[in-house]
Amino acid sequence: MVNPSSVVAALPRRPLVVGNWKMNGSRVANGELLAALRSAGPFDAEVAVCCPFPYLPDVALSLQGSGIGWGAQDCSSHESGAYTGEVSAGMLAEFGCRYVIVGHSERRVHHGESDQVVADKARIALSHGLTPIVCVGESDAEYEGGLTESVVKRQLSAVVHTLGHCVSQIVVAYEPVWAIGTGKTALPEQAQAVHAVLRAQLAAASTRAAEMRLLYGGSVTASNAQAMFLQPDIDGGLVGGASLKASEFSATCRAAMAAALESSGKSKK
Ligand code: 13P
Repeated sequence: MVNPSSVVAALPRRPLVVGNWKMNGSRVANGELLAALRSAGPFDAEVAVCCPFPYLPDVALSLQGSGIGWGAQDCSSHESGAYTGEVSAGMLAEFGCRYVIVGHSERRVHHGESDQVVADKARIALSHGLTPIVCVGESDAEYEGGLTESVVKRQLSAVVHTLGHCVSQIVVAYEPVWAIGTGKTALPEQAQAVHAVLRAQLAAASTRAAEMRLLYGGSVTASNAQAMFLQPDIDGGLVGGASLKASEFSATCRAAMAAALESSGKSKK
């Protein structure tokens, strides 16, 4: 019997699965979800949930000592000051956040966030010790127009230019907009091709690109997760709807680890 932690340590990249609750939940429902998730753990993959801002203290309390991390779904691109309604990265750090999602397509589309604003958010998150999960992804029309590669490269390029070699400290999530909440997942090979483009772009900016985690998001479920996570440049998932059910989310987290072990040719048995 191999020690699971030594197997994890031997992997080139520890899989990461992050739940994005979006604007869902209630204090009661969250408590139940997190209690069930805690009892389904511990997980060999790294696991985190990104909740709406007001729930951060509750989530921190529920997950303390569980090994499951938590974070937020956005932060301001400013340090502090007269920005009504915004929440700073420093505030998130005060609540023990490990991660913050920046540049989710729902922010880019509904709140007009530009590539540069997203890059500024990533920079400020890093300066407060948070790991930004930078989302990139093409719209349906861009996909149909064959623009996927140029769109994601443009989105990532702003981040690379703003962060320089510190870009190695971020997590990138490729989320094709047409796959979000639609049940239409990208084919694993399709997603892999985009991930390979992103990793090559990161490699041009950092010698540590091979250590970086690149996540796929868009209708990930426990049943399609393993095929997706088996792809060589897909290191886990950013999970929306399926993160709201403890059994579905924990099965997705286990699938990430199973895929990592399978592709590295290792077994825990
Ligand atoms: P779904 O998993 O619900 O498609 O959402 C994906 C997403 O947007 C995660 O950030």
